[in-house]
Amino acid sequence: MGDKIIDPQSEEMKFKPSESFAKNANISDPEIYKKAEEDLEGFWGELAEDINWFNKWDTVLEWKPPHSKWFTGGKLNASYNCLDANIEKNGDKPAIIWEGEMGDIRKYTYEELLEETSRFANVLKKIGVKKGDIVTIYMPMIPEIVIAMLACARIGAPHSVVFAAFSGEALCNRISDAKSNLVITCDGYYRRGKVVSQKHKVDEGLICCGQVKDVIVVQHANNDIVMSEGRDMWWHDLMEKTDTKCDSEVMDSEDMLFLMYTSGTTGKPKGIVHTTGGYMVGTHISTKWIFDLKEDDIYWCTADCGWITGHSYLVYGPLSNAATILMYEGAPDYPDKDRFWDIVEKHKVTILYTAPTAIRTFMKWGTEWPEKHDLSTLRLLGSVGEPINPGAWLWYHENIGHGKCPVVDTWWQTETGMIMISALPGITTTKPGSATRAFPGIDAVILDEKGNELEPGQDGLLAIRKPWPSMVRTVHGDEQRFIDTYWSKWDNKTYFAGDGAKMDYDGYFWIIGRVDDIIQVSGHRIGTAEVESILVGHSAVAEAGVVGKIDEIKGEAIWCYVTLKTGFEETEELKTELIKHVAKNIGPFARPKMLIFSDDLPKTRSGKIMRRVLKAIANGAETGDVTTLQDPDVVTTLKEKTAKAQSI
Ligand code: WTA
Repeated sequence: MGDKIIDPQSEEMKFKPSESFAKNANISDPEIYKKAEEDLEGFWGELAEDINWFNKWDTVLEWKPPHSKWFTGGKLNASYNCLDANIEKNGDKPAIIWEGEMGDIRKYTYEELLEETSRFANVLKKIGVKKGDIVTIYMPMIPEIVIAMLACARIGAPHSVVFAAFSGEALCNRISDAKSNLVITCDGYYRRGKVVSQKHKVDEGLICCGQVKDVIVVQHANNDIVMSEGRDMWWHDLMEKTDTKCDSEVMDSEDMLFLMYTSGTTGKPKGIVHTTGGYMVGTHISTKWIFDLKEDDIYWCTADCGWITGHSYLVYGPLSNAATILMYEGAPDYPDKDRFWDIVEKHKVTILYTAPTAIRTFMKWGTEWPEKHDLSTLRLLGSVGEPINPGAWLWYHENIGHGKCPVVDTWWQTETGMIMISALPGITTTKPGSATRAFPGIDAVILDEKGNELEPGQDGLLAIRKPWPSMVRTVHGDEQRFIDTYWSKWDNKTYFAGDGAKMDYDGYFWIIGRVDDIIQVSGHRIGTAEVESILVGHSAVAEAGVVGKIDEIKGEAIWCYVTLKTGFEETEELKTELIKHVAKNIGPFARPKMLIFSDDLPKTRSGKIMRRVLKAIANGAETGDVTTLQDPDVVTTLKEKTAKAQSI
């Protein structure tokens, strides 16, 4: 949107931190980069002192590629770091300010959040949850999701949060893989004024998940639900007579803190394992430095707790820094398109961290919406989830930040746990569209397929050459997949991120996008194989090829090419049905934008669908060499069909 006249490398496209910002910033000495480079372990070891340990570690790093152990011998608890450690100084300070879509507001001080968390931790213990048991949390953005996460961490039971908009079936797959036998959920939640029945999806999902013994249900939207006797329990009943004191379990630095499922290149999502010590150090420090958190900030990360951003930069990073976090339940356009700006004004938000898709949507809606509100409390803006185009960056900077807020574009992944490439707002001169430099201690480079480091300006693959504390430890139950996915592209010491990128002559990173079969729709990670397997699961579908098509608002949109089985007709009704089928089976955020029927798909001679070719066709790009296809003519037919579908 609006990028045509922008030359991102021109001098006027460089934004230096203001003197006053730099003077007061948490980190303002560029020497920090050198310091980290010279002594990586010393650097992280010193930073680790900033969090609370029951027992100090013996060794900062044990690196047996591709396996790392951080702060070995150290004992700590993540919930303790987010709560107890803040009580003495900040017990009365608001930890959470929550606003529901219907306008209701709830606040929890650190003292109250500790009490509620401890109470719920006792509930978990009472129903038999033990250290090491994986607990599935399937809740929308209500304060109880944070309480549940912290309560799990408190008793050493890793949580697996499943995004609330996932379908019952997607929930079931994740529960089965995690071998979880407790689900924490709610009756329903509000989305654009309507109630979405969450419990209904749980009931559907659990039909095929016999191992789940207990379901705890928060009463939130008061919608009609069925409570299954012997399995379902109300949160409020359980909390009523439970004690508010619960000691934190002493966890080893390398004990698992949580599992987070994310899309990969096969239909089966990967359970990314994060451990305690390194993750807490990485998220704590990066939050403090990148968002420049101060005592009286009101910090709003708009991400959902169902994704990694919600874990690292809504819960663990900010709370371990004793921040006041804002949480909002609903949609940005309910009741009107200025809801976000109304929230910023009402709660005097100072730091806003959101996604490019949201920014582009706000651009489309027009400046009259933010103009209605006083946004003068804002002092820093962040972006995450997908590349932000310079036009959107500039719009955000001008219309939301009024030219005075640094914009930090932060590149990272579920697997990295913490932000890896970003400006440090008191130091870095930013350039719209670039995530700028690697965080101190992060050795990010651009390599070619063979592992040679590329010159500035050349497109290549983003790689990380040294370990970092919050890195993924393994894929739950699938060690081989961990090695194959991340540590086999070059050698077992070099992390393959799956993103294409380049570096400019100032050493700034420009992320291009995924080079594998993952689509980023509105910053949500969806595997093409996941969508394809849902499509071929429909009785009418013989074959499906799914690709990402560049989308002005969402970054990428899902495009499906489908071959039907004999006997089925290519009708509009069937097209709609298939689109709905995907949305129902994965979740509404995965609804395909386009579905095109075709008698054939581009295939190699061995019969493998060439997504690369399909992607080029969908995006109107050069298809490259197609002579190796089984039937090269299929490309012409598909191009025609695509053009026709787009013109409708
Ligand atoms: C993309 C989200 C460009 C990237 C934190 C990455 C970005 C994937 C940025 C991970 C950014 C995230 N600029 N691309 N600032 N941030 N990405 O695991 O393709 O949901 O590989 O983690 O998002 O998505 P995930």
